[in-house]
Amino acid sequence: MKYQNNPPDASALMTSARSFGNYDLSSALADLLDNSIKAKARSIEIKCIRKDDGPEVRILDDGSGMSANELHRAMRPASTNPDDERARDDLGRFGWGMKSASLSQCRLLTVVTRHDGVLSGASWDLDDLADWKMGVLEPEEIKALADQRLLERDGTEVIWCKCDRLSEFGQVGGKGFNDIVAHAKAQLSLIFHRYLGGEEGLRKLKVNFNGDALKPADPFFRHHDATQAQPKETLTLDGQPIEVQAFILPHYSKITAGEHDRLGAEEGFVRNQGFYVYRQHRLIIHGTWFRLVKHGELSQLVRIAINIPNSLDAMWKITLDKADAQLPSGLKSRLKDIVDGLKRKSGKVFQSRGGRVRNEAGKTSVWAKYVRNGEVRYYLNREHPLIAGMLDDDDKDRAKAFAAALGIIEDCFPVVSIGEDYSSRPEMMNQSVVDRSTFIEKLDAALPSLLLHVGGNMKTLHEIVASTEPWSNHADIVLTHLKDKGWN
Ligand SMILES: Nc1ncnc2c1ncn2[C@@H]1O[C@H](COP(=O)(O)OP(=O)(O)OP(=O)(O)O)[C@@H](O)[C@H]1O
Ligand SMILES: [Mg+2]
Repeated sequence: MKYQNNPPDASALMTSARSFGNYDLSSALADLLDNSIKAKARSIEIKCIRKDDGPEVRILDDGSGMSANELHRAMRPASTNPDDERARDDLGRFGWGMKSASLSQCRLLTVVTRHDGVLSGASWDLDDLADWKMGVLEPEEIKALADQRLLERDGTEVIWCKCDRLSEFGQVGGKGFNDIVAHAKAQLSLIFHRYLGGEEGLRKLKVNFNGDALKPADPFFRHHDATQAQPKETLTLDGQPIEVQAFILPHYSKITAGEHDRLGAEEGFVRNQGFYVYRQHRLIIHGTWFRLVKHGELSQLVRIAINIPNSLDAMWKITLDKADAQLPSGLKSRLKDIVDGLKRKSGKVFQSRGGRVRNEAGKTSVWAKYVRNGEVRYYLNREHPLIAGMLDDDDKDRAKAFAAALGIIEDCFPVVSIGEDYSSRPEMMNQSVVDRSTFIEKLDAALPSLLLHVGGNMKTLHEIVASTEPWSNHADIVLTHLKDKGWN
């Protein structure tokens, strides 16, 4: 056999590198922040600005910077072998991040850096890449381009120009661009919350994004009295420690609307339950149960933090964009034990809300029961204003059909099945709403009919919701919502 060199075409390879990983603006910026953290930065400034010729993004850190040689090596695609051992606090793995993350968003990447007082700069331009031609900036060009602070102290500035992927968002009246910037701020506050909070003995990191200082977004709400933190456990895999700690979040009735929205974030509570996997305290994946938990088996209020060292990257199959990982089979049964232990506990938080037929004086319940001659029967309360309203429908046929529907729901009430489930696995009974927005959505759907029922009288409406299930269980939430709607 003979051998001959067969290198890739520069332009083709770098253009396909744009699609390595599944980057969006947040995960691309996160990859750059990883590099700054590794370079011991304490302060990072991100600017995403709209210029006449399209968006421009700059990420400036005060880390150790790079010498000209280091920069040259760092700009090279696949600058390190993923199989190489990394320092414990190194958040890198593939030798691609700075290039692939940047080029996923822009066509012109420039890096200017200062190390031990010496400035260097280099760039890759996807539109001018023939034969791996990297731009090396002259001192005057660096001075004209770099942030002034870099001329005075060590650090690195990554600059994205020709942001074609970001400009796609700028076109719809500019709103899309602001939305993805807001999304990126929220994501970075979550991904790096342990660094932003200076937790776990980490060097505290300050990140300023378009003038806003990012605040740590703790997904476990640990500062709240009603959050139940379970004891920390350390599992081992391949001789390496994996820290696991579960949290049961407070029920929504115990937190404010703002807090609830923050915890549910953009995707809501259901999407945000599950494992939160951190790699060296940087969040890489959340909102998954790795198929260890069946839907609805655990309360939506459970979140479990797992911290893995970078030495286990291969076992976890960390992806290039550091946004996905797979649970190693050697950990499955041990995590399942932890999850099983939690089922009972989270059921209690969940269950302490509603579920019992209460016929208290002055309160209108949804279900009622009567016990007569040794016989117990559950029935839907015809006096409940929402039910009464429907039974009162001017369209008599519709009212009749509704009454028939109530009748069959009662006749076929699954008493035996409920009894069996309750006695064998009470912690899994999962009937009431745990999501504040779902509660409000259902309230909103009921309000027009209630208003009709009270003849438009706001005072009576307030009295009704304060004394009628399920709204009376969370009267403060309902009354605040009515106030927000201007229904005083
Ligand atoms: N802000 C920075 N300050 C100092 N050095 C940096 C900075 N950004 C990148 N580097 C250097 O450039 C190298 C290449 O970075 P790059 O993100 O491309 O790969 P990586 O971090 O090694 O691995 P990964 O692909 O997993 O991110 C880094 O290993 C680091 O030495
Ligand atoms: Mg990196």
